[in-house]
Parts: sequence; C-alpha cells; structure tokens
Amino acid sequence: MTDHQLSRRSALVGLGGTAVGAISASLLAAAPAAVAATTATPATTAAPPATPQNSGVERRVSALLRRMTLEEKLGQLQLLSTPELADQSLRGAHPCGGVFSVVGAAKLNVLQKLAVEHTRLGIPLVFGLDVIHGYTTNFPIPLGQASSFDPEVARTDAVVSAAEARRSGITWTYAPMMDVTHEPRWGRIAEGAGEDPYLATQIAVAKVQGYQGNDYSAQDKLAACAKHYVAYGGAEGGRDYNTVDVSIQELHNHYLPPFKASVAAGVATVMASFNAISGVPAHANAYVLREILKGAFGFDGFVVSDYTGIQELILHGVAGDGADAAAAGITAGVDMEMVSTNYVDFGSQLLTQGRITRREIDDAVRRILRVKFALGLFEHPYVDESTEVIAVSDAARASARAAAGRSMVLMKNDNALLPLSRGPRIAVIGPLATATYDVNGTWSGLGTGAGTTPPVTVLDGIKAAAGASVISFAQGCDIESADASGFAAAAEAAAAADVVVLALGESAAMSGEASARSNIDLPGVQEGLLAAVVKVGKPVVVVLFNGRPLTLQSTHDTATAILEAWAPGVEGGNAVADVLFGKVNPGGKLPVSFPRAVGQVPIYYNHLNTGRPADPANKYTSKYLDLPSGPLYSFGFGLSYTTFTISAPRLSSTSMNRRGGRIDVSVDVTNTGVLDGDEVVQLYLHDPVASISQPVRRLRGFRRVTLGAGQSTTVTFAVGTEDVGFYDSRAKFIVETGTIEVYVGNSSDTDQKATFTVVG
Ligand code: NOJ
Repeated sequence: MTDHQLSRRSALVGLGGTAVGAISASLLAAAPAAVAATTATPATTAAPPATPQNSGVERRVSALLRRMTLEEKLGQLQLLSTPELADQSLRGAHPCGGVFSVVGAAKLNVLQKLAVEHTRLGIPLVFGLDVIHGYTTNFPIPLGQASSFDPEVARTDAVVSAAEARRSGITWTYAPMMDVTHEPRWGRIAEGAGEDPYLATQIAVAKVQGYQGNDYSAQDKLAACAKHYVAYGGAEGGRDYNTVDVSIQELHNHYLPPFKASVAAGVATVMASFNAISGVPAHANAYVLREILKGAFGFDGFVVSDYTGIQELILHGVAGDGADAAAAGITAGVDMEMVSTNYVDFGSQLLTQGRITRREIDDAVRRILRVKFALGLFEHPYVDESTEVIAVSDAARASARAAAGRSMVLMKNDNALLPLSRGPRIAVIGPLATATYDVNGTWSGLGTGAGTTPPVTVLDGIKAAAGASVISFAQGCDIESADASGFAAAAEAAAAADVVVLALGESAAMSGEASARSNIDLPGVQEGLLAAVVKVGKPVVVVLFNGRPLTLQSTHDTATAILEAWAPGVEGGNAVADVLFGKVNPGGKLPVSFPRAVGQVPIYYNHLNTGRPADPANKYTSKYLDLPSGPLYSFGFGLSYTTFTISAPRLSSTSMNRRGGRIDVSVDVTNTGVLDGDEVVQLYLHDPVASISQPVRRLRGFRRVTLGAGQSTTVTFAVGTEDVGFYDSRAKFIVETGTIEVYVGNSSDTDQKATFTVVG
C-alpha cells in the first residue's frame, strides 16, 4: 500500500468504519447532515416500489453466493462488449456476468449456452443494449418525447421497445437517461427530457414502469437502467465528459430527483456517469453512490460503470493505476465494470492487500444476482429464436407515428398558414426532406432489423398525404456542406409552388454522445437556403429536425410557420404530414429553452433571480448589451391550430401547513377556437423569500388535455409540502413558512398568479 492509499484507507476508518469511499470524505465532511436529512425527505410522486428483493430471491442469492469462488464472484462483476471477449471469458477463470451491444437471438443463445452449460455454476448472462427510443421500431428521440408533456408517450415507447428487445434476447436496457441539463451545446441533451427536474422525473418514472412492468421476469420486459448518475448534464461548456462543479443543494434539487423517483419506482440498475462531481469522479464517488443512492434512496439493484469508466479514473487523476482504479470503484459502490477489466485483474490482489473487503465484493455480486433472479434468467436463460423481432410491426408503427405526432411543437404559425389544405402545389425543399436515418436521431438502428427499416421521409409522408402530383422537390443543399449550388433550383421550385415546406436541421450524428457543438445555428448553408427560398415570396413552413435547441433568430424572423419535429423516428415523414395537414393538431411544448444566441447559454427558465434582475431601462442589471433578455422560445411554449384560455388559478385554501399540508389549485381551460386540440396546462411555484434563493419558477404540475372546439374542462393540481420545500446546502429537505406564488398557464412565461402562505 502506498502512503497515498494508506491515507485514503485511514480516512475510511475515520468515518466510523462504514463502507464509504475515502475519496468522498471531503464531500461528506462538508455535508455531515446529508444522510440523515435525505432519508427523512418526503416521498416523490413515483409509483410504489416494484423491488426484486423478496425473501425467496434473497435465499437463492445467498445460497449461490456461498458456492462461489472469489474468481467466480469477480467474474460476475465484468461486463464485456463482444462475443469473442465473452467467449474467452466464459471459458476462463472469471466467467463474465454480462455482455452488451451484441444483438441477434441465435448469437445470444450461443453465449448463454456457454455460460449456463459450460461454466461450473451455470450462472446466466445478462444481455444489455442501449434501447434508448426503440429496438427495431424507432420512436422520437427522448427530448422529443418529453415535448409531448405526456408521460404516456414515454411509457408506450418503453412498452413496445421492451417487448421487441426481450423477444430478441436482450434483457437489460441502458435507459432511461434522466440527465437534467441546461446545455444545448451538449449533444446528449437529445437523450434526456430537457432542462426541468420535475418533467424529467415524470418521464423517467413512466419509462422505468414501461420497460419493467410489475415483474420484469415477464418475457416482454427488461431491466431498466437509470443513467447517468449523476449531474452529467452539468458538463462545463456543454463539452461531453467535462467537469461538473455543483453545490450540494443544486445536486439534490436539480439533478437527483429523477434518480430518486426511479429508485422508488423499482429501477433495477443505475449507470455511473463519466463526469466528476465537485472534483470526485462519479465512478469513485462514495457520497453519491453509497451514501445517497444505496443508503438514503435504498437502491437494492446494481450500479454499472459506464464504458471504461473505471479505467478512466486514472486520467481523472484519482487513481495511479488499474489497481487503484478498481479499488476506488469497488469502494465507492460501482458493482459492475463495463469493458475495462480492472475488477477481475486486480480484485484478488486488492482483497489480499486489504484495500477492498470481501463484504464489498459480496454485496456487488449479490446485487447483480438479485437482478438476474428478478429477470427470471435462472428459469428462462434462453430466448425462443422464433420470437425474434426483425421487422417493424403495423401496431408498433402506429404507436411510433402517434408518439411522433404528440411530440411535435408548433413554434410559429403566421396567418394560420397551417394546417395546409390538400390541393395547393407544395415545394418540398431542404436537406432533411429526403433524409432517412437522420430522422431517427441518435441511438437508433441498434436492434435486429432496425438497420434495414429506413424511416419514412418527409417527402414521402407529404406525397402520401397530399398526392404526389402536387408535390415538387429540390434538396437545395446538404446538411453540413458549404455548397450553395442547389439554391437556384430550390428557388425555382418555390416559385412554381403555392407553399414551401422547408425541411432543415441536423444529422443524427450531430447530437448524442461526444457530439457537442460550439455553434448551434442551423448547420452548413441552411440559413442561406432559407433566405433564398423566402426571397421568392411564397409562404414557407420550416420543419425542423434536430437533437438540441438551435439558435433560430433568422428562421423565426423570416419563416411563416415553424414546426419542431425533433428526430421523430421511423414514422417521421408520416407524422410530420399528419401535423402539416391537420390530421393531428400539434400540442407539444418545449422541454428546454431556445436561446437567441449561443452566447446566452446556459439560459433556462428555472434560474435564480440575482440581486439585479434584467431591466432594459437599467444598464446595471443582469443582461447582455447586445441582446434582449430571455430566450427566443421559452420552456413550456408551443402553439396549436386552435386557441385556448386558461382561467386565473383558484386555490382551495390560502394557507398550507408546513407539516404535510396540501391545497388544490384549479383552473378552467377552454378551447376558444374552431378546431379540436390539445393544451398543456402547467403549474409553476416560486418561493420569493427563502433561506436559499429559489428559482423564479419551478414546474410542479402539468396536464395535457384534449378539448373539442368550444369545450371547457377544469384541471386541478394537488400541491403538497414536497412541492414547496427544497434541499438546503446540507442536503436536508426543508419546508419554510411564508408566501408561495402559484403560476398557472400554457408556458413558463405565464403571469396568471395566486399566492398562499405556508404556516406552522
Ligand atoms: C457510453 C454511454 O455513455 C452510455 O450511455 C451507454 O449506455 C454506454 N456507452 C453503453 O453503450
């Protein structure tokens, strides 16, 4: 043991001998009340736990553990990514616990046979895959799904994906991703639910429930994985994998809520994140893993590292070598190592040296076996190859199309240009008009058959809806190239048409992992194409395909209508046509603010007020000299083809008891237009005087309602102390007395307000 290791070990002892990671000791020291306080926090809105932990399973796990050698135990902690490596491992001394990113029922059965029939104990493998927004059937990207403000959209994706994947031999998905983020530059914003912890929580819980059901041993269910734990979305500058420095209260109020709720909903596994949290990499962070996740939240599944996340502790600068990295990961509470092999390489040596304990190893193995038993792998290790899903079924297609329609956001609609009628000549222009896999977005085409099922293009969708005879097409330019030679043909097509549908945006590869952008304008010469087409003078509908908020000032200024389609998935073109022609009245809302310029980033609705909030009349306030304050499009914003009114909020009481009090907030919503449509009623709270400054608004309720023309309904939100309280700088959830402002409306900009007082 080096001096460095010795001092780390003694820090452990100094914490009373509990199995917490020494690396997190400084964080713990800074927040001594953290554990007790978080344990005492109120329940979230999540469903009751569907924990795999029951005495039958526990007995079987214990019995199996007793029979395992150290080598076999360490093997269970290893997750490998190719059939070759798995084959080698299964024939060796440390048979691995799982394999990921391998698809095909026959291939998986071969590996499973090796594990079950040719290893000493026959422990089945768990098969993982990034089933993020579809296995064979691609739904809209998660950011798009969040735009629906409808957790049922997320649940449906999860239900369909789980059935397709499990029937094809996959048993574990690396989803849902629940990283709240304020960073449009970050490519992985596409994979989550945007900038708000409450919305992210509702979507995450729906997804966990959809993937797992009540019993994920069912042959159409998967073990889910809450990722990336934690604060990954806070990457400085939006650069992937980058540092995150976050206060304790921000960690608990902003980043942890979806994880806490997912654990309460019974999520089987959690994936550690690549980032460091206030100097301590997540993979070595005992505070977030042992204290919060496994301690305060009571998580009884297993924690998997991210891809080489244990090995990367060396470059993070908290481990000198692979042995150090393994010690740090095991001590902190990462149970399974993905790709790198430090646990199996050094586990035995570390144990002999006393740098890790048998208890830590056994706990990690127990957690993995618990999930394997809960998956029913010991009873049904093999997949029936005849059930493998290799094509998109009609039913799955219909679900994906409906989900995409519900996920689209109408951002502008001057002169009620949309919905379009059938008959006028339409020029379909733009680099995304004939795009196939780009409309699937990041993390698509992973399942069997998915690569052979190209999504419906916008051009085809529009032709199918309006009739090919009235449609012309010109590409205009590529997504990213600087070549403007197609502009003239595009202008010609526009001139010969009555209306233009201009499909602009990003390629799939421009968002997702390792796809940060420093400039979030429309890429390439697309703004030039827009200008060339607009100049022709015909009404222009811009349909956007993108995995992040873009800076759209010139689009906003010049297009007649703008429809945000995100990456809508396999039925993308049809879903766009459904909305353009009014078969679907758009009702989605933005789950993230769209900045006016990248220089405003981070810009988000749930910010603190500062001592000098922006005031255009006063220079010495918090703003930019060269831009109006606020985003171009706000969180929660989205139009419809009809119009709605939302009444002022009515409160069931003007006071709420600090200990468990509740009040109801009701509003009447009326469809005042002539078309049926959807509105998302949103409830925000603000605590204007608190011991720690509170966000100017925090979403605490939303409901998407469908109303016929002229119809009204009343929407009631129950508000409780869990909605008005917050975590303080010692991670203690507190509810303070005083005034609470309630805002209800159809975006985060609403100024319809009421107040009540928290008393007690
Ligand atoms: C790295 C990504 O960060 C993670 O989200 C993914 O699940 C793993 N690779 C496995 O593919």
